[in-house]
Amino acid sequence: ELGLYQHYMQKEIFEQPQALADTLQGIEDFSPRIFGENAQAVFETVDSILILACGTSYYAGLTAKYWLEAKAGIPVNVEIASEYRYRSSVPNPNTLVLTITQSGETADTLAALRHAKEQGMAHTLTICNVATSAMVRECELAYITRAGVEIGVASTKAFTTQLAGLFLLTLVFARLRGRLNPQQEADYLRELRHLPAAISAVLALEPQIIAWAESFSRYENALFLGRGLHYPIALEGALKLKEISYIHAEAYPAGELKHGPLALVTEQMPVVTVAPRDDLLDKLKSNMQEVRARGGQLFVFADSDTHIHSEPGIHVIRLPENYGVLSPLLHVVALQLLAYHAALVRGTDVDKPRNLAKSVTVE
Ligand code: M6R
Repeated sequence: ELGLYQHYMQKEIFEQPQALADTLQGIEDFSPRIFGENAQAVFETVDSILILACGTSYYAGLTAKYWLEAKAGIPVNVEIASEYRYRSSVPNPNTLVLTITQSGETADTLAALRHAKEQGMAHTLTICNVATSAMVRECELAYITRAGVEIGVASTKAFTTQLAGLFLLTLVFARLRGRLNPQQEADYLRELRHLPAAISAVLALEPQIIAWAESFSRYENALFLGRGLHYPIALEGALKLKEISYIHAEAYPAGELKHGPLALVTEQMPVVTVAPRDDLLDKLKSNMQEVRARGGQLFVFADSDTHIHSEPGIHVIRLPENYGVLSPLLHVVALQLLAYHAALVRGTDVDKPRNLAKSVTVE
């Protein structure tokens, strides 16, 4: 079943172009109905969105907050399900409760959904990869990602397909709220359709990432930096690395460096930076200089438009395209490959990392 691949995780990373193509299949008749029969009426009623999820799915939610607020102008809160379920919060019956879950069986996410419903929040949507799951049964609306079965404990293709679903949700809300003209909508849909090819081009960077992995795997700690839309991607890159290589990794929004984590930076600290060209790139560059000034080794994922060049202490891999607001879907693939190859060098059990289960169905 593994074919040419050594691990399910590697296979699943390489299946992402297909998983995206399958998930985006119905995009030609793009309308609110892709989220369910009654979706338009529900979406027109709600005034905000509350996203509940765990782990990687939570990071998909954090990314979606940037999209939904910037493009659709709808306020979004994102909460870790295991916290939300036990917190006294202020229920808003006009909120759309959105759960994100690959398995649809995560105990904390299901409990968080039930908690929200008990508090009178009746509008519920899930973005889920398993059509027959408890989560899909318990939500009013559902969008099923078509990642296919994900076996590796570290989630990869489920994440990128969740992001695709969340971007479609952003476009639906933007359309309903009069924030998207037909030309803009057509442009975004074209970019979505091109994603499988754009991701394939990132996968082709594997040899360069393998070349980094050897030196990278010798560290015991790593920092990941990103800003804006790419901060959640830095979080996801750090989670992937710690799950499968057991290297301790932490992610920060780069602007937070001097509020604490800069104290950790020495020659022994690799700093992975997600640095596509965007509005915050100049800010990020000055954060990178702060790291270099303390001897930190920078491993930078730039893109065709970034204008950062390799020099001593700064290692740069350039993604072939600048992908605008959809750039998180490309950058995360590079970070998945870095974690995978660092783990391979360290000889860990990539598909079944110690102490972890694929689906966390008990608290
Ligand atoms: O099935 P779910 O998406 O609800 O799972 C949530 C997390 O348990 C999951 O994403 C976990 O963090 C992964 N091991 C991350 O790689």
